[in-house]
Amino acid sequence: MKTLKTGSIASPQDPIALSPVSQRCDCSEHDMPKDRTISRLRGELHRLQEQMRKAEASKPLQKTLAKAAQPTIYVITPTYARLVQKAELTRLAQTFLHVPQLHWIVVEDSPHKTPLVTAFLASSGLAYTHLHTPTPRDRKLQEGDPSWLKPRGAEQRNEGLRWLREDRRGQPGADTQLGVIYFADDDNTYSLQLFEEMRDTQRVSVWPVGLVGGMRYERPVVEGGRVVRFHTGWRPSRPFPLDMAGFAVSLKLVIANQDACFDGDAPMGFLESSFLQGLVTMDELEPKADNCTKVLVWHTRTEKPKMKREEALQKQGLGSDTAVEV
Ligand code: UGA
Ligand code: MN
Repeated sequence: MKTLKTGSIASPQDPIALSPVSQRCDCSEHDMPKDRTISRLRGELHRLQEQMRKAEASKPLQKTLAKAAQPTIYVITPTYARLVQKAELTRLAQTFLHVPQLHWIVVEDSPHKTPLVTAFLASSGLAYTHLHTPTPRDRKLQEGDPSWLKPRGAEQRNEGLRWLREDRRGQPGADTQLGVIYFADDDNTYSLQLFEEMRDTQRVSVWPVGLVGGMRYERPVVEGGRVVRFHTGWRPSRPFPLDMAGFAVSLKLVIANQDACFDGDAPMGFLESSFLQGLVTMDELEPKADNCTKVLVWHTRTEKPKMKREEALQKQGLGSDTAVEV
């Protein structure tokens, strides 16, 4: 019988070359080490795949554990119905979605929860609490009043504080609970870095606010790590000449001082002081944002949209569909 030598090229016409029985080479013997290698590599691959699967599965758990270890930031936002409300809330929500461990307390200046805010929060993807309380008529700005005439959002922030205090009452370790409270108006602009700056607030932390008080920025002035005075263009003698956006307080401090709240009758510029006065002294303030040298929040204000054409069209019965939420 003709045998095939290793390396010889069999022609397709060669019937012998095509017949496996004609080959002398004992394949089972040759393939032994190859099979073993393949089986070893298969085992290795399986082991690595298992390892990867386990690592992937424990990732969310690791993330959850890391998150649970850091203090929650409770953001209290007063808000009221107007044409730009949904736009403002959208901008805010989409910032907050990037902040770990944040709980949004939205307080509507209204006698009831509105469908717009209710649906908005439900689909926001954020952890939230939805509250409401109307500003009493005699304290509310009326159409045509200058915006500085009466404080805005005072009752709503107090309602947020009431909820926080009551929600915690009766919870074990309530007075030592880690947490930070920040009052975020719905029209300002917030950098993500700001939230990490405030997260380890012990009592009251402070930082600059951009585009406020008719200035490029207002800020606490820091010397030797302590706040010694305030850079502001108006009444620096106020107890705390700070904008609402320029400080955060610890949950512990608010729980320990049950009566601390905003005075809805405070004269212009004294709203922040009415709350902070009973809580800290200037030298206890914790300066953040590189010793108050960085602006991480801006007191932006949204222009009221003009509705001249809408009104003209409405008169002709051709106004925009009111069923479309804006
Ligand atoms: C400045 C400060 O940044 C505010 O924190 C402070 O409350 C206000 O002055 C004041 O002295 O009362 P400003 O931009 O003039 O803020 O105020 P707005 O942004 O018009 O209002 C502050 C917050 O209160 C906003 O979140 C707004 O939605 C809410 N607000 C306003 C109400 O809940 N009801 C209103 O009738 C008006
Ligand atoms: Mn504002």
